[in-house]
Amino acid sequence: QDVPIVTIDGPGGAGKGTIAQAIAARLDWHFLDSGAIYRLLALDSLEAGIAVDDLPALIARSQALQIEFPTVGPQAGEVLLNGVVVTTAIRDEACGARASELAAIPAVRDALLARQRAFRQWPGLVADGRDMGTVVFPDAAVKIFLTASAEERARRRHKQLMEQGVSANLADLLQELRARDQRDMNRAVAPLAPAEDAISVDTTSMDVEAVIRTVMEQVEACI
Ligand code: C5P
Repeated sequence: QDVPIVTIDGPGGAGKGTIAQAIAARLDWHFLDSGAIYRLLALDSLEAGIAVDDLPALIARSQALQIEFPTVGPQAGEVLLNGVVVTTAIRDEACGARASELAAIPAVRDALLARQRAFRQWPGLVADGRDMGTVVFPDAAVKIFLTASAEERARRRHKQLMEQGVSANLADLLQELRARDQRDMNRAVAPLAPAEDAISVDTTSMDVEAVIRTVMEQVEACI
């Protein structure tokens, strides 16, 4: 029997990461933040000075990246690139913007496909991203598509940054988020769209607990 999967896709800032991690913790399953994989390649290529059109170099880096998402021990919850903690570094907007540019390149997506599928391990996997239910794990048992209005997503992001002590302008965040939505939805390969068999959940006026409950109900009904 195949390892069961729950996929959580949707636009940036919809709360996928928070929800997917909470579901993985409740089920005691593995967790894949696929956006972090694109962000790691973005950070790595920015640091190495690789241009977005240097395909051979990008593909070589995709295969060579050493990625770790420890879930236990002193580094639990951190993201490591080639042994270095980059949890905060990959979250900045420059990295997000570069990630979204790289994610529009078919050969880059292909190079990262096997790396994402390698996270499918017993007893199960909760994977969040844009194309988890459509491309990477089309046979997932439960597929959720999380949305929220762009304004609400920008507001949440703003709050999160303030809590981290990072100053940010709400109007700028909204503009960046809309630009990223456009790029993610309009790209030729694996555009952001719900899988045919996905359950859409609009979280605009829901709190985190309510979203977790809704997703858990679907999981319990299907697995
Ligand atoms: O989710 P996050 O904002 O971390 O993702 C960063 C970028 O990576 C997104 O804007 C998107 O372009 C890309 N991405 C993707 N497919 C995924 C996850 C992320 O194209 N499964």
